[in-house]
Amino acid sequence: MIPQDYIDELIARTDIEELVGSYTVLKRSGRTYKGLCPFHSEKTPSFFVYPETQSFYCFGCGAGGTAITFAQKINNLDYVEAVKFLAGRAGMKMPDEDDAQGRMRSRILSLNREAARFYYSCLNGPGGKEARAYWRGRGLSDATIRRFGLGYAPDSFGDTFRHLKAKGFTEDELLASGIAKKSEKGNLYDVFRNRVMIPIFDVRGNVIAFGGRNMGDEKPKYINSPETLVYKKSRTVFALNVAKKSTSRRYLLCEGYLDVISLHQAGFDTAVAGCGTALTAEQVRLLRDYADEVVLCYDSDEAGQKATARAMQLFEPSGIKITVLSIPGAKDPDEFIKTRGAERFAQLLDGADNTIEYQMARARRQYDLTTPDGQVSYLKTCIALLAQQATPTERDVYAGRLAQETGVSRAAIDAQLEGAVRTAGRRRQRQDQRDLLKEGIAATVQLPRGVAATGKALGAAYAEQQLLAALLTQPQLAQQASSLDPSAFLVPELGQAFGLVMQRWKAGQPFELATLSGDLPESGMALLSRILAQNHGITFTPQDLQLYIDRLAQQQPAAPAAEMNPDELAGYLARLRQKKHPTEPAGG
Ligand code: UTP
Ligand code: MN
Repeated sequence: MIPQDYIDELIARTDIEELVGSYTVLKRSGRTYKGLCPFHSEKTPSFFVYPETQSFYCFGCGAGGTAITFAQKINNLDYVEAVKFLAGRAGMKMPDEDDAQGRMRSRILSLNREAARFYYSCLNGPGGKEARAYWRGRGLSDATIRRFGLGYAPDSFGDTFRHLKAKGFTEDELLASGIAKKSEKGNLYDVFRNRVMIPIFDVRGNVIAFGGRNMGDEKPKYINSPETLVYKKSRTVFALNVAKKSTSRRYLLCEGYLDVISLHQAGFDTAVAGCGTALTAEQVRLLRDYADEVVLCYDSDEAGQKATARAMQLFEPSGIKITVLSIPGAKDPDEFIKTRGAERFAQLLDGADNTIEYQMARARRQYDLTTPDGQVSYLKTCIALLAQQATPTERDVYAGRLAQETGVSRAAIDAQLEGAVRTAGRRRQRQDQRDLLKEGIAATVQLPRGVAATGKALGAAYAEQQLLAALLTQPQLAQQASSLDPSAFLVPELGQAFGLVMQRWKAGQPFELATLSGDLPESGMALLSRILAQNHGITFTPQDLQLYIDRLAQQQPAAPAAEMNPDELAGYLARLRQKKHPTEPAGG
């Protein structure tokens, strides 16, 4: 743990509006700042910074938290890294890494590096014959093997961990790295056995995990390191450490490790991949730092096409240009390169479709254009597509193309398209209205999954969040709430936050939002930030607080508030509170 004092000072020395302001343009509006959200794409600002609580919140996408959360999210860092990042900006000396977790983290990294060396040497040793033949059979050169640090895990339950023990690593460290496991009898054993090994590096070049591939057809094809202190799949992009050295900002995103390795060997030095899971928003954010354009090079099978669709959605708000590669006659880029060569692949890349082209091409394959029925279905699909996604210029271009392809007159296509655009617009409008409605009180309350949204539950959840808003902004009210039990809370994150606040209060420690980030999960921080944002400018009275407390202390519910649904409760409170500051802001 980084000492709380250190975090407090860091927060005090960090100007959150200045920090955020270096990523998005902020405009002052009263006591808050407002701008376009850096975490999702939007045209009207719904992103707010609250200097008083040192927090931020986006009413559009729900991102929220403190300066530390912001640094984490925007730079794709973990907590400790974000603290270091901010410390660097604030000119503070780094927090001591003598905390147990930090020490373990760096031990795992050294252990992994040593393991990678060991696997590499095993590949070139006497037991590595089959593995060498495997890599050779996959067409990989010695230079490629060296560049990616590929190796071989010996056919033994103990060679690897014994080697690492001899190098001074402890049993705890071996287990924490995921390289070894413990049997029921309590003996250590190696996780990777008789597999060719692919080390996974982070952007800075640390070995953070391994993928071990079976050399035959047995399942599972891969065994992967579990998530550890140093490895989070969702924020890892395979081969980014190599790709980032390229001068090109056009990245090739593939499905498999071996596609990536094969592409690099063929000279495509910006090939990267996820780690066997669906693409995540964190990976998109990470890629955004290096890529202006991403070509999706997923497998041609159905799973690959699904992954393509998902990736297109995820990339949409990122501002990265997306093109989709279809790989004719091969299941993946690796196979294509093998059978058709690098030059042909380069040609494919140059002709990579943009997303509308790609979707139209897909529709074209889906229907039989030689029949009238097929033509009609094809037209319908494309017109819907153009109405929903295309810019007016694109509509113009593709309407022309559709006319040519189907022989239907351009005027007829234009008329249909116009109608579809109008319908799509109306649908969007209705959705906007629904969204506006949702901004009513009830929609500002989040119930845990599995709890029915009865008026009573919503009322309790509303009271909980208002109570926390009161405590976080007016610490002098804490005494009054001290008899409440955190377990009485309906929303677990709020109960946890309340427990922490009380613990801090009893110990005489600060408990403003910004000081809580080390002890609450990101989801909790986002929730609290939202609650503070919703209550911005409100001054709570002891009477307000008492209402919330009574509502929660079920053994002595104070009528009438106890039985109110959230709207009634909110109205009741508003009347009690008489005229105070208007609630701000109403979303954006
Ligand atoms: P693929 O099966 O396409 O693997 O899975 P590949 O890397 O392209 O290997 P080859 O060319 O078939 O030999 C794509 C990715 O999914 C994950 C791995 O990250 C792999 O690179 N995966 C696949 C697993 O984690 N475990 C598995 O058993 C299979
Ligand atoms: Mn593959």
